[in-house]
Amino acid sequence: MEVKMPNIQTREEACQWAVMRVRALIAEETDCVTNMANTAAAIFEIWKDVSWAGFYRMKNGELVLGPFCGKPACRRIKVGSGVCGTAVSQKKTQLVPNVHEFPGHIACDGGSNSEIVVPIFLNDEVIGVIDLDSYEFDRYSELEQNALEKIAQMLSKGCDWSNW
Ligand code: SME
Repeated sequence: MEVKMPNIQTREEACQWAVMRVRALIAEETDCVTNMANTAAAIFEIWKDVSWAGFYRMKNGELVLGPFCGKPACRRIKVGSGVCGTAVSQKKTQLVPNVHEFPGHIACDGGSNSEIVVPIFLNDEVIGVIDLDSYEFDRYSELEQNALEKIAQMLSKGCDWSNW
């Protein structure tokens, strides 16, 4: 599984490489847990200043923690709660430069200062989210948003979501 990391200089390159790396990692695998685990690990390895990278999946009407890299995190989140639950209720990416200003933000790690949450859609329904935290303020931008939305689409198409 070892792949030599290119010499990444810019955030654009880091985003491009993350998309390419995830595409290659999930190309020959349809198990959704396997693919979420490798996606979280790839992003955590490639992007700088990521304190937590992982997934929550919709199960019985709430978000349940999935594969991730980082510290242990909140197990369940209600739709409409926190940044993750808001991404589900609004069916929209949440780009949060300062989590302390986000009403209802759920602090799994008190050190976190910025966050991005991207919904994963299957037939117009949100089936889960990709969640990234950072100790840096304003860590994530439209660059990361575009890359993660591409990754969410690739996972939606490339995984069997029936056997969670
Ligand atoms: N901060 C999130 C909770 C999940 S952790 O960041 C891993 C939220 O407000 O939904």
